[in-house]
Amino acid sequence: MAQNTLIVSNWKMNLNLISAKKLISKLKALKISKNIKNIVCPQYLLIPHVKDLIKSSQILLGAQDCHFEEKGPYTGDSSIVLIKEFGCKYVIVGHSERRAFHKEENLHIRNKIDIAIKNSVIPIVCVGESYLLRQKGSYLKFIFKQLDECIPKKMGQLIVAYEPIWSIGTGLVPSVDDIIEVKESCKGFLKKNKKIEDIKFLYGGSVNSKNFFEIREKCKVDGALIGGASLLEKEISNILKGDF
Ligand code: PGA
Repeated sequence: MAQNTLIVSNWKMNLNLISAKKLISKLKALKISKNIKNIVCPQYLLIPHVKDLIKSSQILLGAQDCHFEEKGPYTGDSSIVLIKEFGCKYVIVGHSERRAFHKEENLHIRNKIDIAIKNSVIPIVCVGESYLLRQKGSYLKFIFKQLDECIPKKMGQLIVAYEPIWSIGTGLVPSVDDIIEVKESCKGFLKKNKKIEDIKFLYGGSVNSKNFFEIREKCKVDGALIGGASLLEKEISNILKGDF
C-alpha cells in the first residue's frame, strides 16, 4: 500500500469565493485516510481565504506557480515569500500551461525551484511531452531534457508530476505501460544524473475517480495532479475517500 499518497488539486483559474468555500467545506467533512496528503492549489486571490477555511483540517495548501525572484519589478507576478506567508507548503512549477502561455523555459523553472527550496516551499515539478513527440517516439529524450535543465543536483526529496500535454483536459490517458515506462525512466535518469533517489512520482492528465485507482495500483505512482475532476465535489471526494 502506497504511503503518503499525494492528491494535488490544481484548480487552475476556476472557482470564485463562494464556490471555493463550498468545495472546501465538503472536503473538510470527508473522512480520509491519514496516508493521504490532500493538497489544494487555488488561484492566488483565493489563497488567503482557503488558508482560513482549512484551519484544523487535513487539507494542505499549494500555489499554482511562483516567480523566480523573491521581489522586484515583475508586474503581475507573485512572490514565493508571500506564498509561504499565506500558508502554502507546496508550489506547482513548470506546468505546461505556464510553459505554453507564459513562454516559460526550463531555465526559469530551474530558478523557480531554487527559490522555492530556499523558502522551504516544496516544488511539484511538471514534465511531459506533446502529442507530436509521443508519436515520433522522442518523448523520453524531451522529458530527460526537462529534468536535466530544471532539477538541481542532489535535491533532498523531489516531487515530479508527469503530465503529457495531450492528456491534459482531453480525456485521453496514456496506457499503464506508458506511465510505468516514463516513471521508471525518470527515476533512473534522476538517480544517475542528479544523484536523487527520494522521488515522489505523480501522474496528471484527465485523472478522474474512474481511472485513478487503476493508475495508482498498476503504475505504483505516489499520487496524482488533478485539474478538471478536482473541481467536481463528487469526483474529488470519491478519489479522496478511496481505499489507501
Ligand atoms: P486535467 O488537468 O486533470 O484537467 O487533465 C491536469 C493538470 O493540468 O494539472
